[in-house]
Amino acid sequence: MKINLANIKKAKNLLNKRECIAIPTETVYGLAGNAYSDSACRKIFKLKKRPKYNPLIVHYYNLKSLEKDCYLNNNFFRLYKKFCPGPITFVLNLKKNSKISKIATNKKNTLAVRFPKHPITRNLLKELKFPIAAPSANISSRVSAVTSSDVKDDFGKKIKYILEGGKSSIGVESTIIDLRKQPKILRLGGLDVKNIQKTLKKKISENIKPNKISMPGQLKIHYSPGIPIRLDVKKIKKEEAYLLIRKKIPCKLNYYFLSKDGNLREAAKNLYSTLRKIKKSKYKSIAVSKIPNIGLGKTINDRLLRASKF
Ligand code: TXA
Ligand code: MG
Repeated sequence: MKINLANIKKAKNLLNKRECIAIPTETVYGLAGNAYSDSACRKIFKLKKRPKYNPLIVHYYNLKSLEKDCYLNNNFFRLYKKFCPGPITFVLNLKKNSKISKIATNKKNTLAVRFPKHPITRNLLKELKFPIAAPSANISSRVSAVTSSDVKDDFGKKIKYILEGGKSSIGVESTIIDLRKQPKILRLGGLDVKNIQKTLKKKISENIKPNKISMPGQLKIHYSPGIPIRLDVKKIKKEEAYLLIRKKIPCKLNYYFLSKDGNLREAAKNLYSTLRKIKKSKYKSIAVSKIPNIGLGKTINDRLLRASKF
């Protein structure tokens, strides 16, 4: 995608004025504001209808800017070198003299940080004198947005500006790892945990059970398209949309496939847009065929399981 400098300038000006805008990332679109500004962070919570106790993740351009706000450690440096910029978020201890807004952290002394790879947003971050707080650009507990029109559907005129960046190439949120003590996965995401284990050369525990809230924002119901979802379905009901991992022939009108041939990366990329498409087509519920629980399939299953709690 071509980088439009005028758009980036507009985004920069609005962020400098403590406004809230949408930005593209390689995982999902983010609802962005100046992470050092209480008023900008308040606007994010309000727009997203996000509960105050659920802290915001903060996006940085590089290490130099992060060092001012957080304590870094060896595990962090290893993962940073290997995967950043990219779809991984680190939970770190916040420095006492950090300028991060206490609205963003809900007064906690930890911070979730990420270095997004999307070239447009990297360009924007480079231009700013502050990091960007940006949770996913969707109404709280609903499906994330992977295009600018998804963001428009959720927020309409309430949002001042959407920085266009095409469709997110990964399509599911970043993998979150808590690095404060023994590394611990808090959310499955766009980076396969196996790759993280290989880099740190050890097995890493996962704290991701949908019924157990292991981090503030692990709401039981999440990623919901707003209609019921049934999982591991072999036989669908007449009025249901059927979500399949690979194209089935003959392909009926109510069949929606995430990939042509069962490719799990392609499936992750198409997951949220397909859920949104089904909802728009006025189906009353969704039946999902079994999805292999490996690689990004684990992330897809995690999201669908949470969405099915609706
Ligand atoms: O890929 C992503 O991570 C996207 C893009 C926009 O960067 N962002 C995203 O943000 O998914 P959000 O807010 O929808 O999800 C971040 C999760 C939330 O569930 C929140 O509870 C958790 O990170 N989180 C934020 N700060 C935390 C902290 N200090 N400790 C533990 N979890 C934290
Ligand atoms: Mg979210």
